[in-house]
Amino acid sequence: MRPLSVIVLHGPNLNLLGQREPGIYGSVTLAEVNRLLTEEGQKQAVSCTCVQSNHEGVLVDSIHQALGQHQGILINAGAYTHTSVALRDAITSVNLPTVEVHLSNIYRREEFRHHSYIAPVAIGQISGFGVQSYLLGLQALVGHLRG
Ligand code: DQA
Repeated sequence: MRPLSVIVLHGPNLNLLGQREPGIYGSVTLAEVNRLLTEEGQKQAVSCTCVQSNHEGVLVDSIHQALGQHQGILINAGAYTHTSVALRDAITSVNLPTVEVHLSNIYRREEFRHHSYIAPVAIGQISGFGVQSYLLGLQALVGHLRG
């Protein structure tokens, strides 16, 4: 299997996973999500570099830095999903295949969460399966990259 490298980006407030609104986001911590992704990646010969930031510019910088380092992006942009033209433009600027994921089903929630600036520039979106959204997203990204 051809070795691959992907960057996993977690947006604002996801550092509080496990304690943040567990009825919506579950009890799994961010460290656990990253561990599960790393394990799944190892099975598929994919190295996962995981970055969390509460700052839009840091996420934009991470997307730029992915160029030449990683072959794809897995992103849960958190609330920036619904607000950030800058993140969307960063993704189109580097032109790396991107999969958008959400723990919760954003379409079953408040209307302001129904719109994603990222979805139109992503290969696809997985929403509503808790931590499985990340693992399914990784599989989908790798499937796309390996053709
Ligand atoms: C989220 C959904 C967003 O609407 C919210 O702002 C988050 C988390 C999710 O994973 O379900 O921070 O991206």
